[in-house]
Amino acid sequence: MRKKIIAGNWKMNVKPSETAALVKAIAEATKDYTNVDIVCCTPAIDVPAAVEACKGTQVKAGAENAHWEAQGAYTGEISTGMLVDAGAEYVIIGHSERRQYFGETDETVNKRARAVIAAGLTAIVCVGETLEEREAGKLNEVIERQMNVGLKDVTAADCAKLVIAYEPVWAIGTGKTATPDQAQEVHALIRATLAKLVGAETAETVRIQYGGSMKPGNAAELLAKKDIDGGLIGGAALKAADFAGIIAAAAQA
Ligand code: 13P
Repeated sequence: MRKKIIAGNWKMNVKPSETAALVKAIAEATKDYTNVDIVCCTPAIDVPAAVEACKGTQVKAGAENAHWEAQGAYTGEISTGMLVDAGAEYVIIGHSERRQYFGETDETVNKRARAVIAAGLTAIVCVGETLEEREAGKLNEVIERQMNVGLKDVTAADCAKLVIAYEPVWAIGTGKTATPDQAQEVHALIRATLAKLVGAETAETVRIQYGGSMKPGNAAELLAKKDIDGGLIGGAALKAADFAGIIAAAAQA
């Protein structure tokens, strides 16, 4: 049995001064759901406030990106060591917005993911196709490439610190959700592809989140699917009641 994991991706939305209140409201609203891993991935500048607010709660703090080098002349980047020092435990890697707007490639996703895992943090590695790719019949090819290159040299042992998020780009922030069957089909492909990389037994232990317009109203039917082990939540992670509604669904799934 894989423990469900619901993570918020705050994107570029919450200020440092607003962070503690949101984390505390989430912790308070979800304190009974002890069978779910709950994570808030915040802008790097919010991480210290999030870590502080998570203390004494079951909510964990995470970041939205990290660089692969330990330190050096990389203006604007954040190292895994900095995130460890600040008390973060998770890092989102390869979000489609990073790929789309900031030149992230499968190769840089791989470097970042391996650095995150080597630092003892948990990497939430995102994969997902655009509508164009899906309509051109390239869904499998795109997912397999993102997995094979993005997770190159990630070992079975590393998988204890790996979560994969399937985020169809056409479902992010659009209000369009993949149907539970559409999502399950891709989650099964992700697990089968992972099995070829690290072995079937290990692949069975890795949590695969769905992301893309997940809400309290559609979370239960998605989370009921065999290979859907959680959610990576954008918009609905910014309101404690909505985020808690999704976590409640995960607790009952
Ligand atoms: P929305 O939940 O706003 O669609 O965003 C999903 C997402 O990108 C999470 O990483």
